[in-house]
Amino acid sequence: MALQRTFSIIKPDATRRNLTGKINAMLEEAGLRIVAQKRIQMTRANAESFYAVHKERPFFGELVDFMISGPVVVQVLEGENAVLKNREVMGATNPKDADEGTIRKTFAESIEANSVHGSDSEENAAIEIAYFFSGSEIVG
Ligand code: RTP
Ligand code: MG
Repeated sequence: MALQRTFSIIKPDATRRNLTGKINAMLEEAGLRIVAQKRIQMTRANAESFYAVHKERPFFGELVDFMISGPVVVQVLEGENAVLKNREVMGATNPKDADEGTIRKTFAESIEANSVHGSDSEENAAIEIAYFFSGSEIVG
């Protein structure tokens, strides 16, 4: 498997609890390299467009409110099989279902305030990376 890049967000529940460093350590221990990173405040338009795939879901409004409730850290992660590797270290969407040792099992507060986002495919990773980063901001 070739070197891959994926997109990650440390969500507002985690930045509020000052967990950026602890989450980054888990990503790095899993073999992922943080090749771009910035802390931003998402606008409502950012969050609605980023999660547009979920706009018909009953939780969409709450999800957008949550994602703009505080700063987030957006990241590009690089490594062998990075998309799947990141999903593994993140754990299941609902922390109750997440495996021991995963970020969500360790830190998530609820199915919504679940500490991290990770791209679900290489194709979506490329779209999500381009939404938040210019090429010159990514240094592998
Ligand atoms: P993400 O996109 O954030 O990496 O999470 P995911 O793939 O594991 O889960 P997804 O189905 O894409 O859902 C996106 C985010 O929406 C919130 N959510 N809330 N209240 C609910 O039932 C519910 N379900 C999902 C979570 O923040 C989830 O990560
Ligand atoms: Mg998702």
